[in-house]
Amino acid sequence: MIRPADFIEEKKRGREHAAEAIGRWVAAFMAGEVSDAQMAAWMMAVLWRGMTPAETAALTAAMAASGERLDLSSLPGPHLDKHSTGGVGDKVTLVVVPLLAALGLPVVKLSGHGLGHTGGTLDKLESIPGFRTRLEAEEAVAQARRIGLVVAGHSERLAPADARMYALRDVTATVDSVPLITASILSKKVAGGADAVVIDVKVGSGAFMTGEAEARRLAGSLVATGAHLGLAVHCVLTQMEQPLGRTVGNALEVREAIEALRGSAEPDLRACSEALAAEALLMAGMAADEEEARARVAGVWTKGAALERFARMVEAQGGDPRVVEEPERLELAPVQAELRAPAAGWLARLDARLVGEAVMALGAGRRREGDAVDHGVGAEVLAKVGQRVEAGQPLLRLRARDGEAAREAVRRVETGVRVAPVPAPSLAPVLGVVRNPTAS
Ligand code: URA
Repeated sequence: MIRPADFIEEKKRGREHAAEAIGRWVAAFMAGEVSDAQMAAWMMAVLWRGMTPAETAALTAAMAASGERLDLSSLPGPHLDKHSTGGVGDKVTLVVVPLLAALGLPVVKLSGHGLGHTGGTLDKLESIPGFRTRLEAEEAVAQARRIGLVVAGHSERLAPADARMYALRDVTATVDSVPLITASILSKKVAGGADAVVIDVKVGSGAFMTGEAEARRLAGSLVATGAHLGLAVHCVLTQMEQPLGRTVGNALEVREAIEALRGSAEPDLRACSEALAAEALLMAGMAADEEEARARVAGVWTKGAALERFARMVEAQGGDPRVVEEPERLELAPVQAELRAPAAGWLARLDARLVGEAVMALGAGRRREGDAVDHGVGAEVLAKVGQRVEAGQPLLRLRARDGEAAREAVRRVETGVRVAPVPAPSLAPVLGVVRNPTAS
């Protein structure tokens, strides 16, 4: 094994590592032969010097190999997974996974709890009384075989190197490195048994990537690294300047997803979900082109078949099945406060990050792993950017446990709202698609 200081030096000088040296480096870290300090120093060198697609692929493979691999061989292929880089009001998984299952594409979706200002899919699903997100691998695969879908927690046994490296990145200002983000995301997908991944790369104030140029760089890296690994990766760049859809918060978002699957989706949620589902069909070879893929998605949506899949998943994972017929059974926090338009005009800004932070501060998320989550708090989005509004018209309704918390949430969001005296353009929900032509 190369001396750790020499390996770090190599990257510090901007040289390319050999693939097998990266494999040995990660294995030595997991074996305790490379210290946290040395790994952190190397990751800082990577942040400044970057990595080639071949190096990023080697890192991804090494991180994926650091633990167990989910065996999906009993499911018909391709083994498709869906990932989002995280956004505010992002309930797309709750819509897309049932759509794909209804189209005959089984999905084993491994998700996380939320951290930071974006909510996690597991927290949302856990707002359904009884819903279990901790499933053993065999149970998850058997469920996907039986009903075509499962959304469950990511096991710590899959890609454990990522959890350790991410914890170090979090405290050493090395999160925002494109190759490290790429390897972090894709290693978990490879360990989860995927051979095709559709990734929702969110762009805007409420996203990890606030600018379109950096989001495109990340998408390019994900696609190129996937190509090196023989993993089909398609990225859809989607809007995250304002919250997605009409709700933010756990129970509110599950209610919205159920209504969307019934056919009354907010246009931006519908557009993002259709685009991602269509890419998945293309990757699976289930449609000849984008037009056909979109037509198939729209067709299954209209028939209500996806809602039925969602109901079967709720039942299979121990959730109260009555919430699908009666989503109002999902309890909401009782106190409401509204943020109103300061003047008449056109809504030009409703900052997604501020809304996400306000909802998290109400208790919808956790500051630290292990904190309790309040499923009933959140925000209802009553106007979208580009819309004509009157002075005093409610733009956002906050749901809280007490009046002071609700008023504080309104104050937090106020600075992120702008009403313009002239028409403001609405925001395009989908900004583009980045595909890997060789792997699809
Ligand atoms: N999401 C991940 O899974 N990893 C990162 O590094 C960043 C976002």
